[in-house]
Amino acid sequence: MLLKVSINSFSYNKGIPVDESGNGGGFVFDCRAINNPNRYEKYKQLTGTDPEVIEFFKKEDEMQSFLNNVYAIVDQSVEKYLQRQFTNLMVSFGCTGGLHRSVYCAEMLARHLKKKFNILRYNFRHNEEYSPYPLTAKIEINGTCNLDCIMCLRKSLPNRDKEMSYLDFLTVLNNLPTIIEWSPHGYNEPMLHPLFFNYIEETNKRKIDLILVSNGTALNKENLDKLLALKPKLIRISVDGVGKKYEEIRKNSSWDRVYKNLRNLSRKTDNFSLYATIWSENIDQILHLVNLAWTLDCKISFTDITWKNDFQESKQENSIRENFSEIKIKEIKDQYLDNENINFSIGRNKKRKCTLPWSSVYVDVVGDVFPCTDTLNYKMGNLLEEKISEIYNNDKYRQFRKDSISGKNYECKNCLAWAPMKNV
Ligand SMILES: C[S@@+](CC[C@H](N)C(=O)[O-])C[C@H]1O[C@@H](n2cnc3c(N)ncnc32)[C@H](O)[C@@H]1O
Ligand code: SF4
Repeated sequence: MLLKVSINSFSYNKGIPVDESGNGGGFVFDCRAINNPNRYEKYKQLTGTDPEVIEFFKKEDEMQSFLNNVYAIVDQSVEKYLQRQFTNLMVSFGCTGGLHRSVYCAEMLARHLKKKFNILRYNFRHNEEYSPYPLTAKIEINGTCNLDCIMCLRKSLPNRDKEMSYLDFLTVLNNLPTIIEWSPHGYNEPMLHPLFFNYIEETNKRKIDLILVSNGTALNKENLDKLLALKPKLIRISVDGVGKKYEEIRKNSSWDRVYKNLRNLSRKTDNFSLYATIWSENIDQILHLVNLAWTLDCKISFTDITWKNDFQESKQENSIRENFSEIKIKEIKDQYLDNENINFSIGRNKKRKCTLPWSSVYVDVVGDVFPCTDTLNYKMGNLLEEKISEIYNNDKYRQFRKDSISGKNYECKNCLAWAPMKNV
């Protein structure tokens, strides 16, 4: 079981964040005793992850001693939580504006924990409008794919014949220096890029963990050995049905081939899971998929199909939400509630809140930046031309975050991961 550490920064003017895990606990550290860069004009428009502010704090002895105390107390809890297999710990840092001291502390703690306990996951929630730079990224290294899945939006998107060159990939990484975790997918099959393994070698050199999401068709014995040698943090294979149904959904695929790859994967590593997108077409596959995960001895996650967005051709009536009542979803979920290998992210759930616009970024094959893969109407910049520091808090991004919270933007409002956020 993974311990998920949620690290937040907040402004005391807006209130202390609530523990969303339902455990009702968490550390809250008050950073207001530390010298405030916001008192100086040149730092006012910056946040705790800007190099100028980092420099400022490095010169402040009181910041380092404050953090050392925090590390000692948080480490003690993390060690204990790991021993006792607890799953959630929340740590929040507060200051006056929620932009400089608290953000810097949150970032430093994340880095400290990442170095010391490599198994942690992070979840950031910062100021509603500004954000430190992202920790995770989807970098779509190619637009190509060998399948034509019936629910996939790929066919309606531009640049699907392109591949990101090695040079462009390096530029994107150089312009995105804060990430600690990446996935090479967007609307593509990443393993088809001829330089796929070279790109992972490059990110490994930079100590950026890989989460691979793939259709698994290219994961034959040889490729699997190469991949495992590069020590991915997680391999996630998308399977939305079994046998004939799988082939009907994932057009151009062969179930036999993918099943063979999955069996081999299961023999070679524990470090993989299945991922199923569920809607009216395949709701009857849930039991088969649970059995498949059981056979392969791995975890499985079920998620919703995305809503139709203006740029997409997928039909709204395909959504599970159009066809199944909340009660039906609850019935299915309740059957598997006690099974820790099965994760349902379908249906409304008040606890699920989206942190992507504050913690992550989606970079498409031509370097365009979006808050996530479902917000393609919001191009925020381009990482081949600008650094993330020029993009992440630009006017458009800040407005997007505000509108996500207030429910003004269509995509966030209709995304089930979203619920209006309070106390951020
Ligand atoms: C677009 S694919 C790209 C990676 C890879 N080709 C794969 O299939 O895993 C990423 C994930 O999005 C899922 N997906 C595709 N169409 C979707 C939709 N309309 N709504 C929600 N998820 C979708 C896929 O099943 C897959 O798990
Ligand atoms: S394999 Fe992945 S990217 Fe390709 S069509 Fe299917 S879901 Fe889309």
